[in-house]
Amino acid sequence: MQEALIELLSDGAVHSGEELGRILGVTRAAVWKRLQSAMADTGLSIESVRGRGYRLSVPLTLLRHECWDDLPWPVKAFDKIDSTNAQALKLLANNTGPLLVLAEQQTAGRGRRGRQWQSPYGCNLYMSLLWPINDARRLEGLSLLVGLAVHRAFARLGFKGALKWPNDLLANDRKLGGILLELTGDPSDHCQVVIGIGININMLGDNSAIDQPWTSLAELAGRMVSRTEVLRALCAELNIVLTWPQLGFAPWRDEWERAHAWQGRSVCLSTGRDWISGMVLGVSDAGALRLSVEGVEQQFSGGEISLRLSNDS
Ligand code: BTN
Repeated sequence: MQEALIELLSDGAVHSGEELGRILGVTRAAVWKRLQSAMADTGLSIESVRGRGYRLSVPLTLLRHECWDDLPWPVKAFDKIDSTNAQALKLLANNTGPLLVLAEQQTAGRGRRGRQWQSPYGCNLYMSLLWPINDARRLEGLSLLVGLAVHRAFARLGFKGALKWPNDLLANDRKLGGILLELTGDPSDHCQVVIGIGININMLGDNSAIDQPWTSLAELAGRMVSRTEVLRALCAELNIVLTWPQLGFAPWRDEWERAHAWQGRSVCLSTGRDWISGMVLGVSDAGALRLSVEGVEQQFSGGEISLRLSNDS
C-alpha cells in the first residue's frame, strides 16, 4: 500500500488527501498516517501544501514494471531491502540464475572494502545480477568487464564516464557508481557470481554520509534521468560482454584501457600494508593493474587494493 501511495506522488504534483484516499480506498486520516510512515520508512520528504494536499519535495523516477519483460533475464524486484547482493545470494538456494534483483532502496547496501553504499529511495540504481559460471576462464577480469559494460551503457545514453581500476565508475574525477562482485561455489567447477552494480542517477545536493567526491547522471545532464532507461542500456551491454563467445578479458583490454581515467598517470597503490608509487602502464589480460615501479613493471590484483593519484600527477 505504501508503494502505491509513493507511486501516486512520484510525479511531484500536489495530490489532495481526498483524491489519494479515494484511489487507495481509505479515509483522509488514514492517508495522513500512511504519509507519515512512508516518510519514516523511506526517508522521502513529503510536503503538505496548505489547503491543497501533499507532494514529494523531489519527484521520483520509479522503476517501471512494464518494461521488465524486455530485459534479457527474469527480474525479482523489491521495494526496500537490505542489499540486492545479499538477496541474490539468498535466492541462490532456489535459483541458479541468470536472475536480476532490483530494489528501490537498500538499507544495508554493500560497498567494496566493507563500506556501506548509500541507497536512498527511488533515486539511484541498485541491481544485482546472479550469473552462473561454468568455465573458470569467464571469471578472468570479470569485474573490469562489467565496468566496461557500464561505461558503454553510459556512452549509449550520451554520458561521458571513465573507469578507474579495478572497477570504479567516474565522471569528472568523481564517483558515479561502483561494482561489487561476490562469488559462491567452486570457481574451478560450477559457481555463481553476484554482479552488484550501484549507479548514482538522480541523487543531488549534499549527502554527508558519502566520504568521497561523487556525482550523478542527473548532475551531469542537468535534469532528472529515467532509471528504467539506464537499467535497459546497462542490461543490453552486460548481455553482450557476458555472453561474448571468446572467454576472458583479453579481447576487451584495449577498449578498457582507452576508458581508463588514470592511464599513464602517477599513482600510489595501497595493498593494505604498504604504499607503492608508480606509473600506470595499463592492465593485463587477466585484469591485473600494470605499474611501472622505479622503471620495473609490476602487476597487482586483489579485492583489497586501492589506488590514489600521486600529488605530482
Ligand atoms: C563500491 O564500493 O564501489 C561498490 C558498490 C556496489 C554497490 C552495489 S548497489 C547494488 C549492489 N548491492 C549491494 O549491496 N551492493 C551493490
